[in-house]
Amino acid sequence: MRRKYICGNWKMNKTSSEALAFANKINDFEFENVDVLIAPSFVSLESLKKSVKDKIEVAAQNVSEFDDGAFTGEVSTNMLKDIGVRNVIIGHSERREKFLESDEIVNAKIKRALSDNLFVILCLGESLEIKEENKELDFVKNELLNSLSGVENLKNIAIAYEPIWAIGTGKTCSPEDAEKMCREIREIINKNYGEISKEIRILYGGSVKPSNAKEILAKENIDGVLVGGASLDVNDFIEIIKCGE
Ligand code: G3H
Repeated sequence: MRRKYICGNWKMNKTSSEALAFANKINDFEFENVDVLIAPSFVSLESLKKSVKDKIEVAAQNVSEFDDGAFTGEVSTNMLKDIGVRNVIIGHSERREKFLESDEIVNAKIKRALSDNLFVILCLGESLEIKEENKELDFVKNELLNSLSGVENLKNIAIAYEPIWAIGTGKTCSPEDAEKMCREIREIINKNYGEISKEIRILYGGSVKPSNAKEILAKENIDGVLVGGASLDVNDFIEIIKCGE
């Protein structure tokens, strides 16, 4: 039985004081049967980690593929571990598109994170162009296998399928199409990694909100959601968590 995973990715939003105000409100909300994670900016990671209750996991939105050293502006796995952060989102489409992260870079980051015992949420998803050419299955398969090249054990990984055309656009992928892709991803994992495919959590992301979360989370192969915009409002985020309970 895979527990639902409700993850909020704040992207480049919220100051540390705003993050603290969010923490104070969400701490009053009780949940039992879901796992909850928030990914704030690097600047707020340590304070958010200290201010949310233990049940709420905190993740970085990115990490360097390199060991500590002369990499101005970067943050290492070592630094995350030192402040008690155990999770990291890798390969978000905004990192891939706007910061030119290739599958090779994503792969190196995953290996770096796993070797330092961090839990990775690997993001995948096709652009509108690729979808219009009906090439999304091949694209996602390649992105998945290239990102995981040489990674032998997936026990510390979750996958987030986020079609780029549905991110921040208000256009949600239909729950049926999201389920279809998540099932495909599970099958690819089954062919390449075997039994772990039954345990690995596969999330959907892209314009998830309180009004559509329940239907999405009801799908057999969708084990959670990665929420951007709607995770910024604590009441909306709580409503989405309730949909996973
Ligand atoms: O990481 C989250 C995704 O990019 C989804 O963002 O919920 O604002 O569409 P969104």
